[in-house]
Amino acid sequence: MGAPPTPTLPPSRGKGVSRRLAIASGFALAACGPRANGQPVSGPVPPLKSLAPFPIGTCVQARFLDDPAYAALLTEHFSQLTAEWEMKMEYTVQDDGSFRFDRPDAIAGFARRHGLKLFGHTLIWYAQAPAAFVNLDESRTSFARAYDNYITAFVGRYRGHASGWDVINEPIKDDGSGLREHLWSRRLGEIDHMVRAFHVARAADPDAVLLINDYNLESNPAKLDQYQRLIDRLLNAGAPITGIGCQTHCNADLPAGALTRTINALARFGLKVHVSEMDVSIVRAGGWFVSREEKEAAQARLYAEAMSAFAALPEQQQFAFTIWGVRDPESWLVKEDRSDTPLLFDAGGRAKPAFLAVEAALRD
Ligand code: XIL
Repeated sequence: MGAPPTPTLPPSRGKGVSRRLAIASGFALAACGPRANGQPVSGPVPPLKSLAPFPIGTCVQARFLDDPAYAALLTEHFSQLTAEWEMKMEYTVQDDGSFRFDRPDAIAGFARRHGLKLFGHTLIWYAQAPAAFVNLDESRTSFARAYDNYITAFVGRYRGHASGWDVINEPIKDDGSGLREHLWSRRLGEIDHMVRAFHVARAADPDAVLLINDYNLESNPAKLDQYQRLIDRLLNAGAPITGIGCQTHCNADLPAGALTRTINALARFGLKVHVSEMDVSIVRAGGWFVSREEKEAAQARLYAEAMSAFAALPEQQQFAFTIWGVRDPESWLVKEDRSDTPLLFDAGGRAKPAFLAVEAALRD
């Protein structure tokens, strides 16, 4: 993920705030009222997945699964698991070109044992160029064969369990000026490598939802525009895309309405929509907030807005709503700043006001 979006002052609240969102935001604010530093919600909370007619996902790492408290939260609240990094080439493709499946299988096995769906993230990503591919000889044929073999091996292995795959991840340049250039585009073509990946994945699993996925779509209109143009171009080229991912890594100062507009814009393709990696950074938010409580109330409102917009989509377009982690300390954002608290559960696994806001949005 690139630099955080430039904080902007919130516009005055526009019209069209749904009743669902208004209620959820009210809960969010109430939950953040008298508490100092967003104290956890007291008392039991309902299983989040029991409130949603669609999968509620989260990302996991194999090593977390041995922690009983973590595993209990996972199985209580979530219905779909995404490997945070252990199904990416950086782990799965070894220098000699062989594949390793141990940790992907551990995550898949945990999901299967607990009746959870598995989501495949991710097949082709600009950020991953393993030596085994970089060192392949110059012939396009051998590179293409290795590319196809990798996709077929992974999609085929989890056929019948994986609900879907991020086939192409983060194809748009951070500034929204065009498509990223990388090993895959250089060796197999800017658009061709994407169309190829979707066709090979479809051949390996006729039923999985095949998605494209990107971030900062809600905060960078140029990037959202390029993403929509690319999706159109790929569909016109015959790529069997059946889902669109919106990562939704956002900052607490994101203006109200941006998430709703983005989710609705992506839904206009009529394909499934995946809010694929939501978290709301408190620390990265701009300076116009006065206190941490205000930032936490804004965080809760944004979770509520995203869930309200997603839950308002036609049922056949609701792929999943995935939060990028379970407890705050496990968030990838904490690597950047230990004081960030971007998720729904605190370090002790207690639900935060953001959880209440999501619950209210689902109940409405
Ligand atoms: C991140 C993981 O959360 C980190 O643990 C890892 O070090 C880097 O990747 N967009 C994506 C995810 O599609 O795969 C990234 O996950 C976050 C940004």
